[in-house]
Amino acid sequence: MVKMNILKNRSLKEHNTFGIDAKAKYYIEIKDIETLKALARNELQQLPYLILGGGSNLLFGGDFDGLVVKIDLKGKRAYEKNNHVILEASAGENWHETVLYSLDKGLNGLENLSLIPGTVGAAPIQNIGAYGVELKDIFETLEAFNIQTGEIEHFSKEECQFDYRYSTFKGPDKGRYIILKVFFRLHRNPVFTINYGSLNALLQNEKGLLNARKVSEAVIKIRQSKLPNPEEIGNAGSFFKNPVITLGYYEQLKREYPEVPGYKVNEEYIKVPAGWLIEKNGWKGKRFGHVGVHAKQALVLVNYGGASGEELIHLSKEIQAGVMEEFRIHLEPEVTIIK
Ligand code: FAD
Ligand code: EPU
Repeated sequence: MVKMNILKNRSLKEHNTFGIDAKAKYYIEIKDIETLKALARNELQQLPYLILGGGSNLLFGGDFDGLVVKIDLKGKRAYEKNNHVILEASAGENWHETVLYSLDKGLNGLENLSLIPGTVGAAPIQNIGAYGVELKDIFETLEAFNIQTGEIEHFSKEECQFDYRYSTFKGPDKGRYIILKVFFRLHRNPVFTINYGSLNALLQNEKGLLNARKVSEAVIKIRQSKLPNPEEIGNAGSFFKNPVITLGYYEQLKREYPEVPGYKVNEEYIKVPAGWLIEKNGWKGKRFGHVGVHAKQALVLVNYGGASGEELIHLSKEIQAGVMEEFRIHLEPEVTIIK
């Protein structure tokens, strides 16, 4: 018999970086596969459930009337395979500590993704990305638990269907799997991605002397200069995705706003920074009671303390309406809203 430690009416305040004081009707921490298998045979078939990592990409609109399953599986190792190195990490490992572990081993590939909050298991869900690199660029495979069948399955890069802030786990396979382990394909040769404007500027004088740790440190410096630390001010990073619009519409916008930035996706589409649209629409640095728009990054909504999920959802809708009215562009939330 597997012993289940299911807690009742547990506050989630310490389990979401927005710091929303929502409650879970039931809550369990998973530290081994046997407990997960037992849970999948019973509770997960009967109750609404939410799989939780570090809670850094979630917004609780209210209490969760079901079972919150916090993934706390631990373990990581690195080993040689052909001409590269595989880093294998369990879902409950902290993401940034995993990046630092790879740097300690002299491995290259994860440095641009330094200081992203959360866990390894959540990283493939939205194909985390920053400073010119996405998880898919260093992804080898993953191991996931099928909640219906109780089987462990492997997903190749193609099967994950990675795209900008997207994977099959946000699409057709939403809610069907629990990611157990992720395998990264890293390398020892010094090839770095430093095209991203602000990163390139910071590393200008380091070109011949570059190493993964220097890239990581530069990324950390940039992030700390504009993103609020969730331990100080509640937030979940970018609240919205950067919208992708047609080049034709972009040209039209440019006639009215010649300075509108854009990054070409392909011959047809271009990505416009949501932060620019929100700032231009007048929201940057504004505070409304407990909630507001960060003064150094307009794409980040914040909880100054004591906010409810509803207050943040209300603010996000007002911003969407303002941007729609001024630019005719829909902003889609990047954060997962749990209602
Ligand atoms: P959670 O918020 O707990 O969960 C996110 C989603 O994944 C939920 O749908 C959850 O059900 C699901 N999930 C979690 N674990 C598992 C699992 N093991 N199996 C199946 N499903 C699971 N993101 C970026 O991409 N780039 C950034 O630069 C970035 N910067 C950020 C900066 C700040 C200050 C903050 C607060 C957030 C930032 N984020 C960024 C968002 C966030 O860090 C990532 O989305 C991260 O991967 C979320 O990890 P988590 O463990 O906290 O996931
Ligand atoms: N901008 C403004 N005003 C602002 C913020 C941004 O005008 O207040 C414009 C500027 O033109 C700036 C551009 O937007 O040059 C890009 O800004 P930044 O480099 O800060 O990146 P971002 O597009 O706002 C994205 C990701 C971040 C990721 C960074 C770095 C999304 C939704 N967000 O933000 O990811 O860290 O790039 O790669 O794609 C997250 O997903 O939570 C997240 C923080």
